[in-house]
Amino acid sequence: MPWPGAAGTLFLMTDERTPVERTLAELGATSPEAIAARFAEVRARFDAETARLAPCDLAAWTAVRNAWLGRASGVITAIGDNWLKPATPEQKRVVGKSLNGLKAHVERTLEELRARAEAAGDAGPAAAGGSDLSLPGVRRALGTRHPIRQTREELERIFRSIGFSVVEGPEIETPYYNFEALNIPEHHPARDTMDTFYLSLPKGSPELLLRTHTSPMQIHTMERQQPPVRIVVPGRVYRRDNPDSTHSFAFHQIEGLAVDTDITFCEFKGTVEYFVREFLGPKTRTRLRPSYFPFTEPSAEVDASCFACDGRGCRICKHAGWIELFGAGMVDPAVYGFVNYDAKRLSGFAFGIGVERMAMMRYGISDIQLFYQNDVRFLRQFE
Ligand code: PHE
Repeated sequence: MPWPGAAGTLFLMTDERTPVERTLAELGATSPEAIAARFAEVRARFDAETARLAPCDLAAWTAVRNAWLGRASGVITAIGDNWLKPATPEQKRVVGKSLNGLKAHVERTLEELRARAEAAGDAGPAAAGGSDLSLPGVRRALGTRHPIRQTREELERIFRSIGFSVVEGPEIETPYYNFEALNIPEHHPARDTMDTFYLSLPKGSPELLLRTHTSPMQIHTMERQQPPVRIVVPGRVYRRDNPDSTHSFAFHQIEGLAVDTDITFCEFKGTVEYFVREFLGPKTRTRLRPSYFPFTEPSAEVDASCFACDGRGCRICKHAGWIELFGAGMVDPAVYGFVNYDAKRLSGFAFGIGVERMAMMRYGISDIQLFYQNDVRFLRQFE
């Protein structure tokens, strides 16, 4: 039988039996002192083995218990068979007493270890060495969609519901798509390096920049397809703005473009009003204010009646009763010239909505920087 814990130990002995497999006579332990010494050895061995047990390793605990208390071949049984039974009547008193003492010590120690493991929260069926399948699994905390993502998806949903499809475009653009084809000529102030991020490229390579708006996708789309066009383009845009509570060097827009043979200012206004009511509630009123963009004519700023005071005037709308939402207008016929569309036959409208701005209004957020800091205390409010 194995001598518990003896694995790996090399005994240079001709008799390979462990001490508890031999009789006391064979071991030469006949005096009470010699017998006590043998018991002390066994006990020290047990203490060393249990001291090595990891607190929650129930498989190892079970192995130790079986090796020492196993009915058929445990150490305690072996001592009873080999030391006690063959002993002389005088020896029996000493051996019997020592064996009882050893057995009590082994049982008590193993029981204490089991209780300790249980207190550490790992007992029950697992004590048998398996897993407790009735315990709940390890739950991985699910994140939430960022409020910008949620707002973008809501905007997409609204425009999808009236026949727009969603397309995306590159964030790196040529000046042609970002400016020229949108009727923003070479000398226009928006092209200043102060306003735009240009990529630093080897001398002689064509200029590239980070798009300052999603409008370049108007051009890409009209180059690729013939009317009717009804698209929205969500995506990230870049400007050389210093960060403050309403500015960020990177933010998001959703561009809209509708071009067909029979689109009038009525379709433009109807679409804008539908969007505003869907996004801000059915009672919201819409106002178009004259504005200017090189690629729309006429151009407008779309305002909504203040969601906080319903137009009566309050601090949020700075007592105007109206809040500016986004820029829009009828596509300037000059733009059709860049994409080989027939300006005499076609007409359309476009808009560019700031996603952060919409999210700030909807959730009452006063600082745009909160969206980018990714503080979970902020983000968890949008679960
Ligand atoms: N591209 C414009 C901007 O970023 C917004 C806009 C888009 C205005 C489409 C009119 C039509 O300010």
